[in-house]
Amino acid sequence: MSLGDEEKYDKVVDLAMRRGFFWPSYEIYGGLAGFYDLGPLGALLKENIKNLWLDYFVFKHQDMVVLVETPVIAPEAVFKASGHLESFTDPIVACSKCNKIYRADHLLQDSLGVRTEGMHPEELNALIKEKGVRCPSCGGELGEVRTFNLLFQTNVGPYRHGTAYLRPEAAQGMFTSFKRVFTSMRYTLPVGIAQVGRVARNEISPRQGMVRLREFTIMEVEFFFDPEEPITPDFNRFQGRLKILTAESRRSGVEEPITVKPEEAVAEGIVLNPWLAYWMSVAQAFVKEIGLGEGEVVFEEKLPEERAHYSRQTFDQLVAISRWGWVEISGHAYRTDYDLSRHMQFSGEDMTVYRELREPKEAVVRRVVVDEAVLRESLGEEAVKVVNILKSFKADEAERMIKDGEVVVAGLRVPANALRVVEEVEVIRGRRFVPHVIEPSFGAERLVLVALDKAYTEEGGRVVLKLPPRIAPYKLAVFPLVTKDQLRSVARRIYEEAVRAGLTVIYDEDGSIGRRYARVDEIGVPFAVTVDYRTLDDGTVTVRLRDTREQVRVGIDDLIRWVANRFTGSQL
Ligand code: GLY
Repeated sequence: MSLGDEEKYDKVVDLAMRRGFFWPSYEIYGGLAGFYDLGPLGALLKENIKNLWLDYFVFKHQDMVVLVETPVIAPEAVFKASGHLESFTDPIVACSKCNKIYRADHLLQDSLGVRTEGMHPEELNALIKEKGVRCPSCGGELGEVRTFNLLFQTNVGPYRHGTAYLRPEAAQGMFTSFKRVFTSMRYTLPVGIAQVGRVARNEISPRQGMVRLREFTIMEVEFFFDPEEPITPDFNRFQGRLKILTAESRRSGVEEPITVKPEEAVAEGIVLNPWLAYWMSVAQAFVKEIGLGEGEVVFEEKLPEERAHYSRQTFDQLVAISRWGWVEISGHAYRTDYDLSRHMQFSGEDMTVYRELREPKEAVVRRVVVDEAVLRESLGEEAVKVVNILKSFKADEAERMIKDGEVVVAGLRVPANALRVVEEVEVIRGRRFVPHVIEPSFGAERLVLVALDKAYTEEGGRVVLKLPPRIAPYKLAVFPLVTKDQLRSVARRIYEEAVRAGLTVIYDEDGSIGRRYARVDEIGVPFAVTVDYRTLDDGTVTVRLRDTREQVRVGIDDLIRWVANRFTGSQL
């Protein structure tokens, strides 16, 4: 049966609420837009998706990626430096009659059918006036467009200067702790710092269910590297081709994705950095395990006006789901040295790293030499005040002063002949620089919704949730055919053994076997085991496969191994 988009979405949401995947939070008080609870099944599904992400982004890369955990609340200084206080904003406009507030760019996009993302308030104001756009709710006149900051503000302790914010991304925790991690990792580059944690964004009127949340779990890596190091990532590890919709193609209106190998995308200048292409290929391999095939994923390059303030190039990983169409499941940004440089500037902490060159090289360097005897003769005791300042002058700067014949430092007149610029041949053994960063970033709850939408099928009027076994909340169901004590006790033993082996298992003896199969199919349990009379004779059970309804006999002693073998990458 093929389901219409809206119809399918409604059924997915109905299943989610009925069986305990997710529902709107605080329902008993009328709910709160942008907040969702994960129920017993949703919490397990999300945990499995998170573990899969950890496997792909951390454990498969444990020679260069480490995991950290940093607070959800950060002081104002962090977001001043990161640029979020200034730039993490969306445009809003209020109706002067009914006072309803809209996200201005979305309102205009919906009512005029033009692309408005990234437009400045002045441009949006001009468009409202030119096209005579009015309040869609009451027809009233719209006020002036202004920006609204999406950071949730709070206060730390009972102090006036305790202004703080809930983090809108985990990333800043990785930047502020970079030096510590870098030191603990024995100063190696590249190094990725990964984190999974809650973030909050005060979105303006979110109305897309689990697609746009005001609080969610982010799974993020900040991958730090030397931009001058000619390292080529091992593209063979996650083979596959990327479907990329370039900014150029979007601008031209063609909107035709190209399919390329990640290394070709780099060679052709489509993706600006090899590590960016590499992490995109990891992202594609990761979501394949959630049920999204290569052809179903598109990496859309953001236009400059759509990019976050810190990014030189960004690709959103998009997939199509019912009702909402293309949604972003991850963002891949080349953040350059923006964040570390800003934190260096705002905190005064040195964020540079030193790397030895593979081969030391000789270079002619120009140095400022201070004649301390001349200095003392002229300034006496006060000479000590200026000597280090003079030594820190750049050669060009010192030469200019010498030429002008006057050097005034710390209010003291220094004779020009106390300074000299000399050229020396120096052996250069290394260099100092601020590392560059590539960031792959996923929202976990959106993946929960996408996985459910993708897995939802109906067969013969029944729901079968074809979740890949690795992310299915429950891996196994165990049923005694009938509630006879002998069958029950064998079934309980199998259940307990499976639990001991680390599987999530459902034991069910309620109702007909057909109804029990239907109940576990609906929540995506991939394997169901039935203990019957033959079990008592030959020690075998029936294992029924969810997706094909195939039934096979497996010996009880082999059962756990049999199930484990069907989980790709299982740790069992
Ligand atoms: N760090 C990625 C984001 O803020 O969306």
